Formats: sequence, C-alpha cells, structure tokens
Amino acid sequence: MMTKLIDGKAFAAKVRGQVGEQVARLQADHGITPGLAVVLVGEDPASQVYVRNKGKQTVEAGMKSVEHKLDADTSQADLLALVATLNADPSIHGILVQLPLPDHMDEAAVINAIDPAKDVDGFHISNVGLLGTGQKSMVPCTPLGCLMMLRDHHGSLSGLEAVVIGRSNIVGKPMAQLLLGDSCTVTVAHSRTRDLPDVVRRADIVVAAVGRAQMVPGDWIKPGATVIDVGINRIPAPEKGEGKTRLVGDVDFASAAEVAGAITPVPGGVGPMTIACLLANTLTACCRANN
Ligand code: GUN
Repeated sequence: MMTKLIDGKAFAAKVRGQVGEQVARLQADHGITPGLAVVLVGEDPASQVYVRNKGKQTVEAGMKSVEHKLDADTSQADLLALVATLNADPSIHGILVQLPLPDHMDEAAVINAIDPAKDVDGFHISNVGLLGTGQKSMVPCTPLGCLMMLRDHHGSLSGLEAVVIGRSNIVGKPMAQLLLGDSCTVTVAHSRTRDLPDVVRRADIVVAAVGRAQMVPGDWIKPGATVIDVGINRIPAPEKGEGKTRLVGDVDFASAAEVAGAITPVPGGVGPMTIACLLANTLTACCRANN
C-alpha cells in the first residue's frame, strides 16, 4: 500500500502565513496588534524549548509576544496575581500557562483563573463545557491541529470510525469531542481498554496520544486507515553514536506506514500544527475582543 505522508510542517507554515496576513490587515485597518503572553514556571527543559519556539513564531506572525519566567518555588498566589494582571491588560489577547506546573500548585485553580476569552489553550472549564456542548469556544491547539489535518485529507469525516488512544484533558478528551462534532463514531481507548489491538483495527482514523514510544504497531492498523501520531518520545539511538537519542511517536512508523492510507511523521507531523493553532487562537481571541 502506498501511504500518504501528511506533512504537518508544510501545513503549519501555510496556517502561520495565513495568520500573518490577517494580523497585518488588522494592524493596517484598525491599528490592533494581537498579543500573546506565555507563563513558564520552573525550568523543565522540554517546556523551555516549546516556550522559545512559541515566542519566535508569535513574533514572526507579526504579533506581540510576552514571556514571564517564574522560579519553580514561586507561590501559587504570586502566579494567580500575574494571571490577574494579564487578564486586565488590554494589549494581551491570549494567555498560556505552560503545563505541567510544579507539584505545589493546583493546576485547575490556575487555569480557571485565566479569563476564558483569553484562554488560547482552551483548558478553562468554561471552554471545556462549551466544546462539549458544541458551542463556540477556544479549542485546544493540538487536537485542533489534528482535526485540520484530518479535514484536509478526508474532506468530510462524517460516519467514519475514529479511535482516540489516550484520555488526557489536553489531547484525548477534546480530540474525541471534535471528532464527534464532525460526526465520527468515536471510541476513546486508554490503559484499561480490553483488546486494544482489536479496538484500533476497527478505526478509519487512529489518533495516538498516550506518550509511549512506538506502542502502536502496524498490525493494529486497518489497511488504508489514517493515522495521526501525537506522541513525541525521545529514545536511545545507538546507531547515531554513543549516548545519542532520536524522537519517535506513539506509533511504530515503519510498520504502520506499510498499511496506513495516510500517516503523520514524528517529528514534522502534529508538533508544528500545535503552535500554528496557538497563533490562530490568539488571532481569534483578539478579533473577538475587538468585535
Ligand atoms: N504542555 C504540553 N502541551 C501543552 C499545551 O498545549 N499547553 C500548555 N499550556 N502546556 C502544555
């Protein structure tokens, strides 16, 4: 089977270009510049890389980017005070508090302190409820990026069997809601699912979001299915030299690409789409704020 590689890198560049054009028009016509504030607490290396990339791409799209880096031992009260300041700042249209937060913080309390209209992650309980009831909301960036790639590949998703592996609040649950919204028949599988291989074999669309390197082999994939791999896992790569590593997804790419109709690579699939959707959400928040 000839599999189609879904090029998230190219798709994301296109989305960022479109966002950039609309930002330029907003500035020319109304003198408004969308602003995104990213808050990072602590020094998690992966989070630092994400935050740097977000800042760079925000500026490249013509938006204002503000970064707040707080020490790992910052109190929750101080973080909530910063969120309140950003909520009240009219030059900031999007607020993202990078997760995970240190253990001494109540993640839900922090997220729910963000003005829902500025919650470009779509994690605030109001946005979760709006999405779950099919109302206009801020949509979490990673599932939104997956949906855009699926719509681009399939056109209509109506009636397709979709299996989402993973039930996280950030990816699995909102992904299931979005697929339901596009009239898929949705199954959410997780670590307690019985006969996971058979469940996955039913799927026309597989979204893998568990965070376990290469756990979905090709013989779980129905021939011709579309595979969206959300995982980003670092594994040893002795073939590249001693101590070297490489990035792999939650899907075993080599065997899955033999049977899938279309598949996203890691890296270069879902990852770039996440930041592109963050920029799109920031633009959306800015337009709604000034409407
Ligand atoms: N940590 C990992 N992914 C995300 C994300 O999409 N948003 C935030 N805020 N934190 C994350």
